[in-house]
Amino acid sequence: MAPHRDLELSSVLEPDVARLGDVLSHAFGFPPDEAKIWFERAGIENLRVLKRGGDVRGGLVEIPMGQWFGGRSVSTMGVAGVGVVPEERGRGVAKHLMLSMLREARARGFALSTLYPASVTLYRSAGYERAGARFAIELDPRTCEVPRVPEATLAEVSGTPEDVVALYDATARRCPGYVDRGPYVWARVSRPRGRSTKTFTVSHAGALEGYVVLSHAMGAADSSVLVTDLAATTSRAARAILRLLVEYRSLASSVKWHGGASDLFTNLLPERHHTVTLTDWFMVRVVDVARALSSRGWPRGAGGALTLEVDDASMPENSGRYAISLEDGAAKVVAGRALAGAPRATIGERGLAALYTGHAASHVLADAGWLEADDDARALLDAWFAGAYPTTRDFF
Ligand SMILES: CC(C)(COP(=O)(O)OP(=O)(O)OC[C@H]1O[C@@H](n2cnc3c(N)ncnc32)[C@H](O)[C@@H]1OP(=O)(O)O)[C@@H](O)C(=O)NCCC(=O)NCCS
Repeated sequence: MAPHRDLELSSVLEPDVARLGDVLSHAFGFPPDEAKIWFERAGIENLRVLKRGGDVRGGLVEIPMGQWFGGRSVSTMGVAGVGVVPEERGRGVAKHLMLSMLREARARGFALSTLYPASVTLYRSAGYERAGARFAIELDPRTCEVPRVPEATLAEVSGTPEDVVALYDATARRCPGYVDRGPYVWARVSRPRGRSTKTFTVSHAGALEGYVVLSHAMGAADSSVLVTDLAATTSRAARAILRLLVEYRSLASSVKWHGGASDLFTNLLPERHHTVTLTDWFMVRVVDVARALSSRGWPRGAGGALTLEVDDASMPENSGRYAISLEDGAAKVVAGRALAGAPRATIGERGLAALYTGHAASHVLADAGWLEADDDARALLDAWFAGAYPTTRDFF
């Protein structure tokens, strides 16, 4: 594929903003006026363009944030709005754009990059792999019996109060894959495109135990409730939120939210009158192997040592040996070193992404040809990367 040395990645200066808006609104098929609102939310400093001789040929939106793994927030460069002008497509321009962005993100200290793909093939060519999923949970409130929870106090609040953010963080850190949100994602929660929302908190004895952010919209015959966020730290609060959602049943035929398939809320749902649908895979790229391994958390009590040989096809700066030892849930990672007598495993960058998040077990990766490891190494990897299936509530 052509190396595209004449195409350069750069930040966006004021004259390029309108041109990038034009390129991306055409690429994604939305009115050009909406690009301005989108870019303001994202921050002009987070836009990147690929230019040839001053002319914008493609671009993307960066969303710097974190993702929770093992109870720690690992820095990740979220990516949205990847677009290339039609006349340049099919020549490796998007791949070049992605790899240029990834090198810059690595230099800035990011450990991972995360995105929702429109094409898996494109992002695989830049070293991303499917690494988790987002599910839609939908119920008909007219057929969902949830008792009242009189001991819980419900209140509407305005904006996104600090204690609501703190409660999200406290619950999200326990869910592998959940986003450590920045302002861009929080804005998507409270101001989703084309809808207005209300936020309700749930307290008990004066202490906040949960909240829900939702919008209610009337359709042709009946209405629907779209929940953009919900969290609870007690069963009491989760049941009170479910009851509040069911209270829309006089008009609503659908209540929908996104998240994990087996979280507190789905587990408290009665009967079978709801659906859980996998709507979006997310893909992850390990941008800096040493940083990704040393900044995540690990299962409590996990121990052992292993030499991991990484063979990274598109970011060779990641390739090489890593001596990894875990003691009491903390990792020591030394790049460029092997551990004498310790089990060994060899993995590519895409297998590593799927392993890292807990999306795929070692036998799946080995059968796919993405991991070479003997039984001892596989047992260690499965113990180290074990946990709930990686999910997220947020689309970006
Ligand atoms: C998707 C898009 C960015 C691809 O740009 P591009 O410059 O043509 O992509 P590249 O030529 O760099 O493709 C890199 C690889 O991905 C593959 N690929 C690219 N788009 C693909 C698609 N839609 N479906 C399947 N494979 C695709 C290419 O075949 C190539 O594979 P190869 O390395 O095996 O040859 C461009 O078509 C576009 O702007 N589309 C509209 C917006 C969009 O969908 N963006 C993605 C949002 S997540």
